[in-house]
Amino acid sequence: MGVENANSVVWLRGKMSGVNFDLENLPEWVRAAEGILARPGVVVLLGASDSGKTTLSRILAERWRIAGRTVGLVDGDIGQSSIGPPTTVGLAMVSPNAPLSPHPSPLTLHFVGSTSPPGHFLPHILGTQALVHAAIAQGAEIVLVDTTGLILGAVAASLKWHKLQALRPQHVLALQRAEELEPILRLVEGQADMQIHRLPVSSKAVRRNHAARRAFREERFREYFAQASRHDLAWKDLRFARLWLNTGRRASQEELTVFGLSLQTMPLYAEAAGEEGLVFVRGAYSRAALYQVRNALGVSDVLVIDVEQLRGTLLGLHDHAGAFLALGILQDFDPESGRLQILSPFQDPGRARMVAFGSLRLEASGKELGESPWR
Ligand SMILES: Nc1ncnc2c1ncn2[C@@H]1O[C@H](COP(=O)(O)OP(=O)(O)O)[C@@H](O)[C@H]1O
Ligand SMILES: [Mg+2]
Repeated sequence: MGVENANSVVWLRGKMSGVNFDLENLPEWVRAAEGILARPGVVVLLGASDSGKTTLSRILAERWRIAGRTVGLVDGDIGQSSIGPPTTVGLAMVSPNAPLSPHPSPLTLHFVGSTSPPGHFLPHILGTQALVHAAIAQGAEIVLVDTTGLILGAVAASLKWHKLQALRPQHVLALQRAEELEPILRLVEGQADMQIHRLPVSSKAVRRNHAARRAFREERFREYFAQASRHDLAWKDLRFARLWLNTGRRASQEELTVFGLSLQTMPLYAEAAGEEGLVFVRGAYSRAALYQVRNALGVSDVLVIDVEQLRGTLLGLHDHAGAFLALGILQDFDPESGRLQILSPFQDPGRARMVAFGSLRLEASGKELGESPWR
């Protein structure tokens, strides 16, 4: 069975780049689509990686649009992102006279800072929830939330459970090959006002390996940063998140000199917040006498960061109200002069007031360089 509306299939086919010419639309999916039309609301789509979630979400959005509904599509997959670049959750709106485009430009994005959820549950879940609310505020009658393929094990159960608690969907679409979603479904089965639809996976769903997923992310980043230029930001104008800079007591120049003896290099900056210390150096340093730095700062734990190792760190730039503006890539951070050099496609980075540090490092070509040293 094909998708009914010929026009809508054309771009979906185009996107498949010849791998799958025909989109399969299963009768179970059509029944679920009708059930949701009869009782609109928030819909969470669960499934393993490559179970066809994103394809199904577009088929459904198109079907509901043709039925005259305004639909909010929330892309909660921060790795294989379909709306906005990886590391963000994105919202696109679909309405009767505004169909979804092959590469929908997001109405709003929320920065998560990682391409996989572990360690980032709060921004991931709160961001997804904020976009669901934004979709409703924009007039969406149905909000469909696409999710990551993280479904197995305790970490996945925790993520999905908390996400379902936060979003309180009227419908859960469970796209599964066998019974792989049952452990998660058991957590919420029987919950009042939450209808679970178990759906089969298309026989045309294609599995991609690790390298193909990485190549997909790198391509999305490359596109995002294609028009990026260099900008210079002043620390004094900024607040920082994730790398919680400037939340404690700043060490004096005399203290830095003392730390320098232990680290065998002159630190650029140090602060103590509660039991934790943060020290920035440039280049190699000695770990042999770190305990002396801890004692001198009066903390039980100290994180020493070589600013050279921060280069490439993905940043989320936000305005004074905390709204996401754009991604950036850190080129240089000089705590002494208080300057941040970044690469960003954003035209007006002077509007940035809050910088959230992501956990991965990138080249502007999109190439992933591994984890940032701040965590
Ligand atoms: N219903 C379908 N008909 C045809 N091909 C499909 C269908 N669902 C998935 N595919 C193929 O499988 C691949 C993975 O599907 P995708 O929707 O990206 O999965 P997920 O979002 O769950 O990771 C797609 O690129 C597409 O080629
Ligand atoms: Mg997907």
